[in-house]
Amino acid sequence: MSESFDGDWLDIREPADARARSFALAERLSAALPARPRLLDLGAGTGSLFRWMAPLLNRAQAWTLVDADASLIERAFDTIAVRALDVGFDISAPSKRVLLVHTPSGAWRVEGLVADLADAPDGLPLGKHDAVVCTAFCDLVSRTWVEGMAARLRLPFYAALNVEGHARFLPPHPADGIVARRFRRDQGRDKGFGGPALGPDAVRAMAAAFRARGFDVTTASSPWRVGRAEARMLSALVDGHAEAAMRRTPRGGTAIRAWTARRHAQIGQGRLRAVVGHRDLLALPGRR
Ligand SMILES: C[S@@+](CC[C@H](N)C(=O)[O-])C[C@H]1O[C@@H](n2cnc3c(N)ncnc32)[C@H](O)[C@@H]1O
Repeated sequence: MSESFDGDWLDIREPADARARSFALAERLSAALPARPRLLDLGAGTGSLFRWMAPLLNRAQAWTLVDADASLIERAFDTIAVRALDVGFDISAPSKRVLLVHTPSGAWRVEGLVADLADAPDGLPLGKHDAVVCTAFCDLVSRTWVEGMAARLRLPFYAALNVEGHARFLPPHPADGIVARRFRRDQGRDKGFGGPALGPDAVRAMAAAFRARGFDVTTASSPWRVGRAEARMLSALVDGHAEAAMRRTPRGGTAIRAWTARRHAQIGQGRLRAVVGHRDLLALPGRR
């Protein structure tokens, strides 16, 4: 059973994601790809990686957005179409599952695929793609999942915005420690990928698994830096931390509720900001 994600939350985080991602790693991926790259985006959600990376690739390209949640894929298509029109690109839809964005650098083809990725790469059309990419996805998966992917993949693998397990809300609050400890523990909850989620261990596990298979692995820090004016993002972060911290046990509930109320008051006063650690990873296959 896949973990569900709210499309509004994915939209709220998109600007912070876009600022956080490592350009250097994405440019390295771009340089390793052919003239018209075909990318398979796992857990694509509302398509925010496509919107960030397609202009960076800056050539004709084809994307397959894979997600278990059909409503997110539908929303991805709507958002991609609206944003393309907003910047003056034409769009066309040769079929219900395919959208074409006509840009001066060539056509960007986007296709949706609704699938449960619990057993990936089983069932994925790897032979029709030049890279597997994902964002905010690999901290949900298990060690077995990563090892299976590294063992079977012979394509570049790019995984951006994996949590590092530390978030700093400023100014400090006495209950920061309990919220952080509980939040970190919740990140290891089984998210439907055959074992505990890797959470903050995701990058270490991916780097070891891909290096063991001869891939050249590079990582880069990609923290969210959320400023005092970003009230919606800060509110969502505070609520997400409080909810995760309370999930397993109501113990400590009074301190966590006080933390949440204080953090919301600080957002209202324009006094709260946050830094959340993430890391991007790129694994390029060795020559055979
Ligand atoms: C944190 S969201 C990230 C979405 C998107 N990549 C982004 O950066 O905005 C994780 C995504 O993984 C998808 N997902 C989670 N478990 C899944 C599964 N077992 N199979 C396919 N997709 C899954 C969710 O539906 C969600 O869209």
